[in-house]
Amino acid sequence: MNVLTIKQALTGLPIGDIRFFDTVGSTNDEAMRWMQTNPPNLSLVLADEQTQGRGRTGRRWLTPRGAALAVSVILHPAQISLDTLPLINGVGALAVSEGLRHLGLAPMIKWPNDVLLNGLKVAGILPESQWMGEQLRGVVLGIGINILRASVPPAETVHFPAGCVEDALGRPIARETVLREVIVALLEWLGHLGTPWLVHSWENQLAFRGEMVRVVPPVGDAVEGLLSGLTIEGNLRLRVDGEVQVFTAGEIHLRPSHSPLSNQLS
Ligand code: BTN
Repeated sequence: MNVLTIKQALTGLPIGDIRFFDTVGSTNDEAMRWMQTNPPNLSLVLADEQTQGRGRTGRRWLTPRGAALAVSVILHPAQISLDTLPLINGVGALAVSEGLRHLGLAPMIKWPNDVLLNGLKVAGILPESQWMGEQLRGVVLGIGINILRASVPPAETVHFPAGCVEDALGRPIARETVLREVIVALLEWLGHLGTPWLVHSWENQLAFRGEMVRVVPPVGDAVEGLLSGLTIEGNLRLRVDGEVQVFTAGEIHLRPSHSPLSNQLS
């Protein structure tokens, strides 16, 4: 992967500028820095390797050289407003999910934004906002996808079993091919921001829907209930003892109740 193969893969798509690094700390950090100099909307930061890749809730995200896709997309406030900001998790998850579906795979979304193939996590999303006082300067949508087998983190380092696109496909695939599919899908879903269609589609692809799950909030005890779907804002609806409880994305961890994983607290 290099800047030429990336540009070739993205030919014809209405994106902004591209910055590519052989190795970088975190593409999200680079994109947040770049945003201060006002890059065009839909500019991309990509890296072959991340040494300080960041995941949700302060976790590390592994991006070994040559094996994974690490991309951060810069979104201007014209693209995503304060009203639609809470739906960015859905946009990111749907972009990856639909991109992989176009490659013949059958992804599911573990709410809010993990993408699973055959029950294994292959992708994660890390949206981060930048503010000027009370005004939104923009959003960085970080997307990490395990493409080749070498990108799958060791089992003892993850909190949910991980897999990769190569294993689900049964053959290796170029990262640029996946990148194009995901960016095409992202552009489409950004166009559906603020419509009920987006939440409806997000909900339809939810893993564990209609099943008992355990949700672990940042403080307080884990809650077990039936995953019944999403609210119009993209929050999780859980039926607990006959009553509906609603959870926002925040720091929540979600596990199927029937799995041994459900006893883990993070
Ligand atoms: C998660 O915890 O599931 C989210 C992982 C997000 C990883 C991506 S890789 C590109 C971007 N740069 C980062 O440092 N993190 C995100």
